[in-house]
Amino acid sequence: MSKIRNIVILTGAGISAESGIDTFRAGANGGPSLWEQHRVEDVATPEGFARDPELVLRFYDRRRAAIQTKEPNPAHFALAQLDAEWAGELLIVTQNVDDLHERAGARRVLHMHGEHLTAWCSSCDVRSPLTASLIERPPCPVCAARTLRPDVVWFGEMPYRMDEIYAALRTCDLFVSIGTSGAVYPAAGFVQNAVELGTETLELNLERSQGSGMFHETRLGPASALVPQWVEEMLA
Ligand code: OAD
Repeated sequence: MSKIRNIVILTGAGISAESGIDTFRAGANGGPSLWEQHRVEDVATPEGFARDPELVLRFYDRRRAAIQTKEPNPAHFALAQLDAEWAGELLIVTQNVDDLHERAGARRVLHMHGEHLTAWCSSCDVRSPLTASLIERPPCPVCAARTLRPDVVWFGEMPYRMDEIYAALRTCDLFVSIGTSGAVYPAAGFVQNAVELGTETLELNLERSQGSGMFHETRLGPASALVPQWVEEMLA
């Protein structure tokens, strides 16, 4: 561990679970799933949006309103502390569309699946801040077209900033995955990239994930306990 200088941290829904944001897939303990009663194809694909935009806009409006009532938990704060104090390169790649890493104070954060708190205009291709709802079809603040959509990467769309992510993976000495099921690619493949490059890998998760077998070490438990403990070790 003393040789580690550059770190890439992948986070998933599990890091926000203890803030009261449901994960996507119900856990082994049968918790609720964020997809609610909807089929993924209906609310998280471009085809679903084309078929029933109102359903999709309402779904994301509810999620956007909900995350604004939640607070970061000790796992988010611990990563923010690591970000502030770690002298080497550090990148938090999150699959989460909430802003809890930022609200905890983290700066080096990349949202590969987009963000609830921005809207994307399909006319002018500009992303603008958004806290309110999209169901009333507000005009784009840049071009005034009423073509704003959730700035969330749907199935069949390319996640954001992949070049930056792969560049960081190539030069990191440690890859850490926190609270993700390893079910959705390309994020699920990062551990394999890291292992092939000879990078140390660590998983922190509530239960074993689909990718657990690939990590050099897996620690099981709630993120609010495991992440602060790991950050303390890194900063010791
Ligand atoms: P999932 O819901 O698939 O997985 C959540 C993971 O967090 C599971 O492995 C749980 O065991 C773990 N977990 C739950 N509570 C936890 C806790 N308190 N502490 C630590 N771990 C905990 O969510 P993701 O892996 O993030 O993509 O899902 C990946 C992507 O699938 C999402 O970004 C989303 C979805 O389709 C898009 O919307 C594009």
